[in-house]
Amino acid sequence: MAFCRDPASELRDYLCYLVDMGWDQVFVSRVAQKDRPIPSAKLTAIREEIGDCRRCPLSSGRKTIVFGEGSPEARLMFVGEGPGADEDREGRPFVGRAGQLLNRMINAMGLDRSQVYIANVVKCRPPGNRDPEPVEIQTCLPFLQAQINVISPEVIVGLGRIAVGSLLGRKISLTKTRGSFYYVNGIPFMPTYHPSFLLRKEPERKWKAEAWEDLKKVMAQLDLPVDGRGDSK
Ligand code: URA
Repeated sequence: MAFCRDPASELRDYLCYLVDMGWDQVFVSRVAQKDRPIPSAKLTAIREEIGDCRRCPLSSGRKTIVFGEGSPEARLMFVGEGPGADEDREGRPFVGRAGQLLNRMINAMGLDRSQVYIANVVKCRPPGNRDPEPVEIQTCLPFLQAQINVISPEVIVGLGRIAVGSLLGRKISLTKTRGSFYYVNGIPFMPTYHPSFLLRKEPERKWKAEAWEDLKKVMAQLDLPVDGRGDSK
C-alpha cells in the first residue's frame, strides 16, 4: 500500500538537503520547540480514535485491545504481528515468552524496554494465534502508521514476516529481506526474525546469530556502542 510522507520525514529530508548544501548548524527557536505537540497526547488521541473498535472480525474474539507501549519519544520502535493470549489478557504487547526474549534483545542492545516503543500490526488477538487476514491488517494498519508518525523514531525494527510484509506493503521472504535497511514512512526500517520464531528454533544458534547481526546494524544506525555487546547471547 502507498504511504503518505509525514512532516517529520519531510523535515529530515530537508535537513539532509541543507547538509548537502554545506550547512553544518541549524538553530531552532525555543518558541518553536515549546509549540511542538506532545507525542503522548497525540498517542492518547489515536487510542481514543480506536475506541471500543468493531471495525474487523478480530474484535469479536478479543479480551483487550493491545495498543502499544513505551516511550512516546523513543528513538527505536519495534513492530510485531499481533497480541497472543498473554497480551490479550494483560492489554500490553510482548509480555509472554516471546516478550521476555524481546526484552533480552533490547537489553543486549544496551537499552531498556522503557526507552523504546513496542506495537503490533493488529491490535486484537487473532483466534488460535493464526496469521491475521489481509482485511484485518488493512483495517488496523492506519492506526500503527499514525503511531509511527507521532513517535517518529529514528529506526523501526519489523519482527517477523507479517510485520515486515505489512509495513513494506508486499509479500516478502523474511530470509531474503532481513539484514538490510528499507524505508517505512521515510524512516529506516530493519526486518528481522520474530522472537517466537527464534524460540521455536532455540537449539540452532544460526537464527539468533543472524537476528543479532541485524540488531547490531540498528545499533550502528542509532550510534549506540556495538563492540563487545551481546555476541555471546
Ligand atoms: N507476538 C507478537 O507479534 N506481538 C505480541 O505482542 C506478542 C507476541
